[in-house]
Amino acid sequence: MQSMLPGAPWLLAHKSMLAVNKPQKISLYGNDFAMWKDAAGEIHALPNACPHMGAMLSEGWCEVESDGSSGVVCPFHALKFDKSGCTVLPGSNKKTLPLLAPLELTIQGDFIWSYGQYEPKIPIPTVLTEIANNYDFIGHTADRSIETDLLTMLLNMHDYNHQNGTHRDLFRITEVQFHQFIDDGHQSHAFYDMPTAPYSLTEKLRKPDLFLLPTTIKAHLENHFPSVVIFHGEMPLGKAAQCHIFVPEAANRTRTYILLFGKALHPAFNFLGSNYLKFGKVVVDQDADILGKIYPDSPQKVKLNNEVGMDWVRRNFASFPNVSEPNLSK
Ligand code: FES
Ligand SMILES: [Fe+2]
Repeated sequence: MQSMLPGAPWLLAHKSMLAVNKPQKISLYGNDFAMWKDAAGEIHALPNACPHMGAMLSEGWCEVESDGSSGVVCPFHALKFDKSGCTVLPGSNKKTLPLLAPLELTIQGDFIWSYGQYEPKIPIPTVLTEIANNYDFIGHTADRSIETDLLTMLLNMHDYNHQNGTHRDLFRITEVQFHQFIDDGHQSHAFYDMPTAPYSLTEKLRKPDLFLLPTTIKAHLENHFPSVVIFHGEMPLGKAAQCHIFVPEAANRTRTYILLFGKALHPAFNFLGSNYLKFGKVVVDQDADILGKIYPDSPQKVKLNNEVGMDWVRRNFASFPNVSEPNLSK
């Protein structure tokens, strides 16, 4: 369990990712839940195994109650559970006691957070709410469950050297010019530039999203351990905040997805939103691919430059939930 950092808050979804009255399966800490959004925008989540014979409630449907709230109906024998996990058994006209314990959620605007029934040990980061207040929400993409543990997933996100391997087809990065790492306990910032080899005009005309790629990618990563990494991008047409979210679904399965926010400085920026989403998806697919091809627990015998972000992840992991002193010797 320690490998999934109990006591940390996890962002399970943005409200826009849920259709009204359509249950969706969400996993956290090895448990599955059926989560749904009712017509009023309220979010509910119950353990996914029906207490009758174990069918997945997330495969069922929602039914609206007289007060406008909705319950979830089991796809097997159609028992309906309200948001508190109570049902009315056939032949009875009275609700049972709760048969399922709702997952505790903390809703902040459109963000659905949970500690997965563990006692909170660190606070919910405020950064996403601040971004939501200052940027337009563009959309979500690349929602994937990857067969890897949380630590390996986070190391990948804070690895400033994998662009040339994992992402080489997309970016053709010629080098990573690392500038600064600001270590502030569970938060950090990394600044680096990545000059890219140019694509030819023919290649660009074939794949018009390539016009979005600057000749030098200026990266500013804002990190909030353990669940959020924000890639801040600045372009002449506008600013983007690409938020990478992590959720430990099980000890060896980690979910990731991207929430993209943008602030247009020019109206043309808004047309580019869907292209940025496509880029994000390609990046996550490439990461997922390499994460499935790493031997777990193989000892690291050499170190590259600029592994400071990974050192930060390892240190916070080892001392969680405590914040240990930053090691500024490098
Ligand atoms: S298994 Fe759900 S109602 Fe029977
Ligand atoms: Fe990556």
